[in-house]
Amino acid sequence: MLEIDIITIFPGMLDGFIHESMLKRAAEKGIAVLRTVNLRDFTQDVHRSTDDRPYGGGPGMVMKAQPLFDAVEHLKRDSSRVILMTPQGRQMQQSVAEAYAQPGHLIVICGHYEGVDERVRTALVDDELSIGDYVLTNGVLAAGVFVDAVVRLLPGVLGGEGATEQESFADGLLEHPHYTRPIEFRGMKVPKVLASGDHKAIAEWRRQKSIERTQERRPDLLKNKNF
Ligand code: ADE
Repeated sequence: MLEIDIITIFPGMLDGFIHESMLKRAAEKGIAVLRTVNLRDFTQDVHRSTDDRPYGGGPGMVMKAQPLFDAVEHLKRDSSRVILMTPQGRQMQQSVAEAYAQPGHLIVICGHYEGVDERVRTALVDDELSIGDYVLTNGVLAAGVFVDAVVRLLPGVLGGEGATEQESFADGLLEHPHYTRPIEFRGMKVPKVLASGDHKAIAEWRRQKSIERTQERRPDLLKNKNF
């Protein structure tokens, strides 16, 4: 079982994500469970404030250390890993998702405003992840992206066996094109080989298309590969 607690000031934003589709199935099967934790429940002032002005001045607000420390300490067990979603983190990759896709307990902190008090990063967090070089107002969407990429890799979550082994990035390449019925649509035909029943030829065609597509769109992925 992989348990994930997401600490956020917008817990409602993940409701649909948790209660529908892939994550719902993972929870029903007892493979993974995602919970949201409202950071405001760990505030100590009447206004339930989670942010404050930055020392040194300047625009924006900074997330306070105390509610985050209290929330993490409340949730934390010996084996927990604490992850902060931030554009300053190491970039999310398929290999990162694979590394986290195992039983355990993850605590994911969603940054908001200008960022979090530096003492959270230095004393509380094990890993910092970015989902790309752009800035969101709200780390909760980034946390959802991270959780989706991880949970779908857990054995038993997706229907088709082997579905995650063949997909884009699984072997460092983009995936080959796919077709389904009909064999001809608006004059566009499905490549003959795919309907030939010749499994060896199909595998070769797919491999070739996969390499061509990667060369065309993401040559950076081929740098350390030999064909
Ligand atoms: N919070 C804001 N922008 C983000 C990003 N690109 N990745 C992760 N967390 C974020």
